[in-house]
Amino acid sequence: LLVPVILSGGSGTRLWPMSRAQYPKQLLPLHDENTLLQCTALRTEGFKCDGVRLGKPIVVSNEEYRFVIAEQLRLIGSAAESILLEPIGRNTAPAITLAALEAGLDPSEDPLMLVMPSDHVIADISAFQNALRAAIPAAQNGAIVTFGIIPDHPETGYGYIEIKADNLGTPGPIATFVEKPDAETAQRYVDSGRFVWNSGLFMTRASVWLKAIAAFRPDIAEAVQLAYAAGKRDGSFLHIPKDKFSASPSDSIDYAVMEKLPTDTSTGIPAWVVPLDCGWSDVGAWSALWEVAEKDEGGNVTRGDVLTTDTTDTLVLAQSRMVACVGVDNLVIVETPDAVMVANKNETQKVKDIVGQLQKSG
Ligand code: GDD
Ligand code: MG
Repeated sequence: LLVPVILSGGSGTRLWPMSRAQYPKQLLPLHDENTLLQCTALRTEGFKCDGVRLGKPIVVSNEEYRFVIAEQLRLIGSAAESILLEPIGRNTAPAITLAALEAGLDPSEDPLMLVMPSDHVIADISAFQNALRAAIPAAQNGAIVTFGIIPDHPETGYGYIEIKADNLGTPGPIATFVEKPDAETAQRYVDSGRFVWNSGLFMTRASVWLKAIAAFRPDIAEAVQLAYAAGKRDGSFLHIPKDKFSASPSDSIDYAVMEKLPTDTSTGIPAWVVPLDCGWSDVGAWSALWEVAEKDEGGNVTRGDVLTTDTTDTLVLAQSRMVACVGVDNLVIVETPDAVMVANKNETQKVKDIVGQLQKSG
C-alpha cells in the first residue's frame, strides 16, 4: 500500500498580494485552473506499480483551511482518507509524524508514505511517476528516500544532497544532507557536481519514519503521539487539540531527521536519493511561476481579463478587473480586489519586504 501524504500547512509571503495568511499559495490556482493542492492530489492518480496498491491521500493542514481543502478535493473528485487538522503550525516533522500515526493505524499494514509538499509545480507527471517506481524498492527495504533535482543555480532556499555514487542521474545512497546552506556554500556545492537539490518529496514506510523521529527527536515523537491520541474525529477530519500539539517543538523533516540520517548510522535506516527530472519548480516567487507556465508568442503569461500590445516576457494575473499593458517588458503585475502589485520580474524575491512593511504598519 502506498499512501500519498499531502502537506498543506505553510503560508507563502513571496507571492503577495495573492497569497496571504488566510489564503496561502497552495490553495490558489497559480499554475493552471486547478490550485496547487488539487494538482498535488491529481499527481498520483492512475499510478501503477506491480504489487503496490495506491491508497487515498492523507492531508495534513491547519484547522483554518479545513473547509477550503475539503471543497477543493471534492471539486476534483478526490476524497481524502483523512484530513488531519493542526491547531497551530509546528513545521513538517510533527506534521509527517501525525500522518505516519494515521497511516499506520491498521497494524497489519505498514504502508509506504509518499510525502508531498503542496507548493510545487511538476510539469511531467509520467516522469514523476517513473521516479516513484524507482524509489519503491529502497523504501520497501526500510530506507527514507528523497528525490533529487539537478541544480542550475546556487539557490539558498533548498536542501542540498551529496550523492555517494559517481553519477547524479542514478538512484543511490546519500553521503550528506545540508538544509539551506549560505550562498557561498551553495555555490561550492553546485560547482562540485556532486550535489542535487532536495525536492521536498519523501518516500518511506510509516514505521520507519516513526523510528527515525523517535531516535533523533524523541521530544517531537512523544508530544505528537499524545496529541494524536487525543484527536477528535468528525467525518474525515481529525482535530488535533491545541494544548497537546503545542507541546511539540517546531522543526522541519530536513533539520530534524535528514541532516542526521546519512552520517549517524545508529538507527540503521538507509538514506537514499532518486533523481527526479520532471519540470519541477517550487514556485517560491512570481518569477518562478512565469518560468514554468506556458507563454504566448511574446513570452507573456496572462490569467483573467488581460489585454496586451507590444508587451514581452510579462506575467499578468487579473482577478477582479481588466488589466491592459502597453509597451512593457519583464514585469509581474498581480491584480486582486484590494491590492495591485507591479514588480520588476528580476526582483520578485523582494515582494516579501512589502509583506514585512505591511505587517509592521498593521
Ligand atoms: N501540515 C503542515 N504543517 N504543513 C506544513 C507546515 C506545517 O506546520 N509547514 C510547512 N508545511 C508544508 C508547506 O505547505 C509545504 O507544502 C511543505 O510543507 C514544505 O514546507 P516549506 O516551508 O515550503 O519548506 P521549504 O520550501 O522552506 O523547504 C523544503 O522544500 C524545499 C523544496 O521546495 C525543504 O524540504 C528543502 O530541503 C527543499 O529543498
Ligand atoms: Mg516550500
